Amino acid sequence: MMKIATEIGPLAQLEADALIVPVFEGVREERFGVGELIDAGEVTGKSLELTILHHPQGVAAKRILLAGAGKADKFDAPLLRRLSGAAVRLLKSKSVKKIALVLDPAQASAANVSAAVEGAILALFEPDRYKTDDDKKSVDSFALAVEGGTSDLAAAAERGRILAEAQNFTRDLANEPGNLLTPLLMADAARKMAAEYHLECEVLDREQMAKLGMGALLGVAQGSAEPPALIVVRYKPASGESKAHLGLVGKGVTFDTGGISIKPADGMEKMKYDMAGGAAMLGAMRAIAQLKPSIPVTALVPAVENMPGSRAMRPGDIVTAMSGKTIEVINTDAEGRLILADALHYAKQLGCTHLVDAATLTGAIAVALGHLNAGLFANDDGMRDRVMAAAKAEGDRMWVMPLEDDYKDYLKSPFADLANVGGRYGGAVTAAMFLKEFAGDTPWVHLDIAGTAWIDDGKPYLSKGPSGMPVRTFVRLAMDW
Ligand code: BES
Ligand code: ZN
Ligand code: ZN
Repeated sequence: MMKIATEIGPLAQLEADALIVPVFEGVREERFGVGELIDAGEVTGKSLELTILHHPQGVAAKRILLAGAGKADKFDAPLLRRLSGAAVRLLKSKSVKKIALVLDPAQASAANVSAAVEGAILALFEPDRYKTDDDKKSVDSFALAVEGGTSDLAAAAERGRILAEAQNFTRDLANEPGNLLTPLLMADAARKMAAEYHLECEVLDREQMAKLGMGALLGVAQGSAEPPALIVVRYKPASGESKAHLGLVGKGVTFDTGGISIKPADGMEKMKYDMAGGAAMLGAMRAIAQLKPSIPVTALVPAVENMPGSRAMRPGDIVTAMSGKTIEVINTDAEGRLILADALHYAKQLGCTHLVDAATLTGAIAVALGHLNAGLFANDDGMRDRVMAAAKAEGDRMWVMPLEDDYKDYLKSPFADLANVGGRYGGAVTAAMFLKEFAGDTPWVHLDIAGTAWIDDGKPYLSKGPSGMPVRTFVRLAMDW
């Protein structure tokens, strides 16, 4: 694990293999003898432009990495997160071990300091846990260096460390293949995390869920030899004053074949990340346990495997959800909404007054928004605004989608209260509309992260693979309540 430190004081004596120095467009950096490179146009300060210099003037550090920070008036925490990440990834690839990032006191706000540390830790994640080669590169230490900075640097850096490590925990889980992370193994991972951070963890088995009447969740689970698990992780603040109780519900399909409505073979291997929503909730709880918000938070992760087979749910089957509503299962590949229907209802029974769910729910959300924004659906404007504000502050991109009651017509079934699919058009909206029936009057936000939970092509600041979004948003939502 990389060591994180903060340094306040003159740069000249700072021991490091490399100093990362942000340079802004149109600003002539006078230090380190780099002015001429800027005059010559070799270094422009354009966003994410990286230039390594050896033997810089006037500092003990062996290298300087000039890191393009773009226009000074556009510089913010999300950009610094990426810049720090891109710089650290480049230095790691060159086997640089001891890194320091230099910030001006004016840039060293708590938000920026956290973001710089997050960027560094997120950048070092690689999805290669199961590669057995022993020459994997790593960075030993990352320090934030501020000349004449403030003393609360360390607290902000620590917050960044907690958030980014939680996000990487989520990425590790989302990256696990279906054979190594079954529903029971996901429950084990939750129990282990909860024990480490002193959270309560309870796992409901098939019989307990049957007693509660969770026919929709169990309908999905019945096709797999792997038993289902409903994971419940609880955080309780020291003072019991809060009237609000936040419920975080995450889709935990450890592998989605589609069931009898089976998916095509091409790309099916990616359906190991169909539990990314659940993994995000467990990651958020890991950080929440350490940062201790004043509101109680309960995470619920319905964990199942969606398989075809002689026991599997059939198209046309009618299941009864815990709420009492009957559902005609038109397509067994629309399984996420079935398990979430019961988990949302149960969350309300457990006393949650406000709900957020995250789910890799539909391919349609990626058709609508691409891979940049998660789709946000809400039945309550206040709840929508809270989540949007948290997402904005954390640099998790989300776009508000419609959820008018008229969409309910798409889900009509002649045989049951509602069908589990809404036809060809507006697939992400009709999926959200289905969930809305089970959130009821409780203020609720649904995030469809099918397009954003996995990064197909790596970025300079992030490897390809699971993104771990929107863990930071959930933590901030609880912290800012
Ligand atoms: N897990 C999938 C959605 C998905 C697609 C996640 C691509 C990540 C990437 C979900 O269970 C599913 O199969 N949804 C169907 C719904 C359809 C049957 C109405 C889909 O999107 O095709
Ligand atoms: Zn599916
Ligand atoms: Zn799915």
